[in-house]
Amino acid sequence: MNHLIAPSILAADFGNLQRDIEMINGSQADWLHVDVMDGSFVPNISFGQNIVKTMAKHCNKIIDVHLMIDNPEKYIESFKEAGADIITVHEEATNHLHRTIYQIKETGAKAGVAINPHTPIQVLENVLEDVDLICLMSVNPGFGGQKFIYQTLSKIRTLRKWLTERNCTAMIEIDGGVGLQNAEKILEAGADVLVAGSSVFKAEDPLVAIERLKAIPG
Ligand code: DX5
Ligand code: ZN
Repeated sequence: MNHLIAPSILAADFGNLQRDIEMINGSQADWLHVDVMDGSFVPNISFGQNIVKTMAKHCNKIIDVHLMIDNPEKYIESFKEAGADIITVHEEATNHLHRTIYQIKETGAKAGVAINPHTPIQVLENVLEDVDLICLMSVNPGFGGQKFIYQTLSKIRTLRKWLTERNCTAMIEIDGGVGLQNAEKILEAGADVLVAGSSVFKAEDPLVAIERLKAIPG
């Protein structure tokens, strides 16, 4: 499968959100990655359903909502109503992951599960068949612009092996510190979706940055 690019709106200019979303609309990006932070699960607060709704209204790409919030099961339906196509929750943030995955699917959204850099992929062993997306965090969540943690590469390789062996269709998404300097290695290891915040929005020409990430063979 050709890999997908999901620019993270967290790195956009919030004073010019509509302009930046229109740039994404006209780009080769596949998804818009939307980071929701609650100041509890992660040490930062971003935005909630109303802002996501406005973004979704203006955006013609798949809306990939990454919930970095405690007890995400309380807010699944409202993020779906706001326009999420994919809803990803953290394994560390919900007590009944299997139930939460099916709660997401019930809304009609695709279900994703994310794990932090220190969390072993083994925690996902019993939900591999249930999820549509597995997001491996390659930085500690909470902020954009951090350095890629290279141990993520071996997690990707093992996860890819498991998915192939078990004939699972879940996609592997890598989130944090992704850019042209490491994208090839990440794709070689077996990733399907690259989230890119700073490397797109802080680039001299974001459209070209997206084009280059998309053009990487793999
Ligand atoms: C981190 C977020 C990421 C972040 C990526 O908590 O989940 O999606 O926006 O930003 P960069 O690409 O700048 O690391
Ligand atoms: Zn994210």
